[in-house]
Amino acid sequence: MRAVHLIIGIGLLILTACTEPDTGHPAQTPFSPQPYEHQDPPGFVPMLLPADNPMTVEGVELGRRLFFDPVLSADNSISCASCHLPALAFTDGKAQSNGVLGRRGMRSSPSLVNVGYYYKGLFWDGRVMTLEEQSLHPVADSLEMAASWPEIEQRLRSHSEYPALFRRAFGIPKAGEINRYWVGKALAQYQRTLVSADSKFDKKTRGETTFTEMEQRGWTIFFDASPSVPNSECGHCHIDPLFTTLEFHNNGLDAPRDPFIFPDPGRGGVTGNRFDNGTFRVPTLRNIALTAPYMHDGRFATLEEVIDHYASGGHYADNLNPNIMELNLDARDKAALIAFLHTLTDDTFLAKHAGDGEGVR
Ligand code: HEC
Ligand code: HEC
Repeated sequence: MRAVHLIIGIGLLILTACTEPDTGHPAQTPFSPQPYEHQDPPGFVPMLLPADNPMTVEGVELGRRLFFDPVLSADNSISCASCHLPALAFTDGKAQSNGVLGRRGMRSSPSLVNVGYYYKGLFWDGRVMTLEEQSLHPVADSLEMAASWPEIEQRLRSHSEYPALFRRAFGIPKAGEINRYWVGKALAQYQRTLVSADSKFDKKTRGETTFTEMEQRGWTIFFDASPSVPNSECGHCHIDPLFTTLEFHNNGLDAPRDPFIFPDPGRGGVTGNRFDNGTFRVPTLRNIALTAPYMHDGRFATLEEVIDHYASGGHYADNLNPNIMELNLDARDKAALIAFLHTLTDDTFLAKHAGDGEGVR
């Protein structure tokens, strides 16, 4: 019996030795990470950077590679960037996103700009608190990348390049130590670099440019800044610099069946409090001209439809936010609001990240 065990033991040893990748030899790769110089734009509340995941040039670079690499999906067909495209401010232009095999998700892909500043919960319903944890979800989501983590970990460990990249970023001595948590950390580091704060609106705020008459009128309406124009109430929830308070509200999209039954429970699905049903995190409006269609389910194709929704006062519900009310906007006011929303497009950001997917596969 002993001998049999021994033989099996030796067999297993040889087997693991054979499957253990000899690529990369991480321990021979130097580990001397450079701190990544993160700077908060003026007016932003400082980004909360977790002490156990300091940003480094090598960590950001690894995260960027992983973000654009379909290696994280079941059939190597889909990367994070399939649903978060740099040219569309990291959305995908669809009402609901397509995952592996064209499977359709429930909600619209949100922009990832300034996502490092979202400290009140990620996703439309705020169900996850940190980017490190968030990154683990799409990979295993059957409607998104539909992969199993043990399989992905194995793929990365035996990859020709990743072991050295993980070594450079995190100092892990063996390819076998690559796991989902390092992947989550690297993806979080990359996503914290997606800072958008150089739109025409920002330049105007810094006194570097001026608004056209329509943009100025739209700004004044948006922020209820003068009695000479009608109010819009937008600025209560979409406040600068992030253009969101990060709070959860019902903005009147659906009439509930029964007081608190909505097609998508939103935040209520997380808290279990029926008063939160039908509320969603206020999305940013930065780069909004690029991120159609709009709302958590992509129901509105254009900004005109969005403004018409707000002007109508939306559907009544017991938890309808009191800032959602019928608005007294004429066609020119609506056009002015839209002109203002276009000043939130950040060409500097787009140019900076246009090439992020280069050099990956
Ligand atoms: C199949 C499309 C798809 C893929 C692939 C995908 N996402 Fe997403 N992503 C979404 C959708 C849809 C949501 C919103 C889901 C919700 O709120 O319930 C989302 C939400 C997010 C959020 C939250 C943003 C916010 O505003 O709170 C982050 C961060 C994110 N994704 C990062 C990633 C990363 C990193 C990857 C790759 C590991 C990835 N996504 C892959 C579609 C996708
Ligand atoms: C009570 C807070 C509140 C007010 C006031 C408000 N919004 Fe919103 N806004 C939200 C919420 C919450 C959502 C997301 C709702 C959803 O998808 O279920 C949203 C979504 C949007 C979207 C879609 C964003 C995207 O990424 O899909 C746009 C555009 C928008 N609002 C513009 C405006 C404008 C313009 C005004 C003023 C006319 C305004 N909002 C007033 C809370 C508000």
